[in-house]
Amino acid sequence: MLKGRHLLDPMDFSIQETYEVLKLGKEISNNPEKFTHLCDGKILATLFYEPSTRTRFSFEAAMLRLGGSVIGFSEPSSSSVAKGESIADTIRTVACYADIVAMRHPKEGSARVASLYSEVPVINAGDGGHQHPTQTLTDLLTINCVKGDLSNKVIGVCGDLKFGRTVHSLIKAMSRYENNKFILISPKELSVPDYITKEILTKNNIEFLEVEKIDDVIGQLDILYMTRVQRERFFNEEEYLRLKDSYILDAAKMKNAKEDMMILHPLPRVNEIAYEVDVDPRACYFKQAKYGMYVRMALILKLLGVK
Ligand code: CP
Repeated sequence: MLKGRHLLDPMDFSIQETYEVLKLGKEISNNPEKFTHLCDGKILATLFYEPSTRTRFSFEAAMLRLGGSVIGFSEPSSSSVAKGESIADTIRTVACYADIVAMRHPKEGSARVASLYSEVPVINAGDGGHQHPTQTLTDLLTINCVKGDLSNKVIGVCGDLKFGRTVHSLIKAMSRYENNKFILISPKELSVPDYITKEILTKNNIEFLEVEKIDDVIGQLDILYMTRVQRERFFNEEEYLRLKDSYILDAAKMKNAKEDMMILHPLPRVNEIAYEVDVDPRACYFKQAKYGMYVRMALILKLLGVK
């Protein structure tokens, strides 16, 4: 039963609960007009303390397409946050007006803090370099729709694996499905945090490999998940400039990939996928952005308990 629950981490939902959201997301994607009035009279609040295009717009589009309304801010300086209001007081107040809240914040754990004070479901729309569970639902729905299932995949994740919260959430989620293997491609400075390799991968006997060169492994992959280097999380601009173009996926590199390897990217992209790759049928990242709206429609319906 998902009604009234929060979503802070991909593991908050069981495999069965995740499956139910994905199943509904797929149903919505096939027939969105069937769902246009299910949230009539409901209000979603989007509290974005950090910039966003896909997550905020897809949440807002999701609620509007369900017949509901949206309130919120995309810039905290336009709210009483600028006067020093705490997350706890902001969420208590917003929960008086909205039925469900999606929140993005630069600090790890902030969505969890909000959930402790909220009388309505709180969805973590990204907390610092920690987790991004609705991006993961998006990724799972895209993989499921394109590949047909979520098991037996060799998944390459490439780029900024240290700060990339989408990667942390994806590894957690995909590690629950049978016989998935991970190839973690990053410079040493941007490798996956220990809590992911030790607590998720090693502890659950999941096969993984850490490498620095994409060319050495691209031919083995069923899925290549590219990420940008997260400038906003670096303490040192020089270090960012040194690492920012560590990987650029282009048509030449794609020649060595499997014919059915899918390329995912949570976006925004900076330089890490050349524009020439967009016309490759294996490039799924804009399809992925669209699935993000459908899966968020499904999530809103489930958390509000709308049948
Ligand atoms: N994928 C993602 O989180 O994109 P935005 O930062 O544009 O929301």
